Amino acid sequence: MRFVVTAGPTREAIDPVRFISNRSSGKMGYAIAAAALARKHQVTLISGPAAIAAPKGAKLVSITTSDELYAAVRRALRDCDVFVMCAAVSDYKPAQVSALKMKKRRGAFALKLVPTRDILASLPKRRRYLVAGFAAETHDLARNAQKKLRAKNCDAIVANDVSGSEIGMESDENEVTIFFRDGEKQKISRAPKKIIARELVKIFAKIFEKGLTKKSW
Ligand code: CTP
Repeated sequence: MRFVVTAGPTREAIDPVRFISNRSSGKMGYAIAAAALARKHQVTLISGPAAIAAPKGAKLVSITTSDELYAAVRRALRDCDVFVMCAAVSDYKPAQVSALKMKKRRGAFALKLVPTRDILASLPKRRRYLVAGFAAETHDLARNAQKKLRAKNCDAIVANDVSGSEIGMESDENEVTIFFRDGEKQKISRAPKKIIARELVKIFAKIFEKGLTKKSW
């Protein structure tokens, strides 16, 4: 099977030396890429800036901004069976990027931000690949994740609680609940991200295969 996995944060430039980003380490996405490779799947890993090495055998596509991520995803999806959107995309970017370093000013100032494109939500409704999104939530996990599953037209969404520092962002462990399009859900209890990744790859491959026989994508 051909997996396309996105991972890590995006960076949105403010000026030549500053950017807007988030705390994503890329660990979860890299672990999914490694787990898919271990099961002999083909893997394209599209990654924002991350301090970890790409798993051997993956085709690595490095991106910085959400626009670059969007372009890389659209290209990679031409050749994909399972798409895992694990990247933490910045929801906003500066309305204008200053070509010169912005000088310090006296007092407060406001930076105008505009929304970035929602990559998951922009995917075609009719497609031949499985789409798994992620939902990072600090509260109302189930309700928010199910809302995202529908709004972004995903086949499955992996919800994780990012309210604490023990699991989720930057940490080596995670605990997730996967919500499926048909209303089913499955919890994977707290475990190292590598173990969670193995389970996720098995689950995604299984639902892709099931969908193939039903020809639902
Ligand atoms: N995502 C995306 N494009 C964006 C923002 C998010 O494709 N511009 C994807 C993420 O990669 C993830 C899913 O949408 O798979 C949910 O991301 P999340 O940050 O949890 O939610 P948001 O859509 O940003 O909503 P909110 O910040 O309000 O929770």
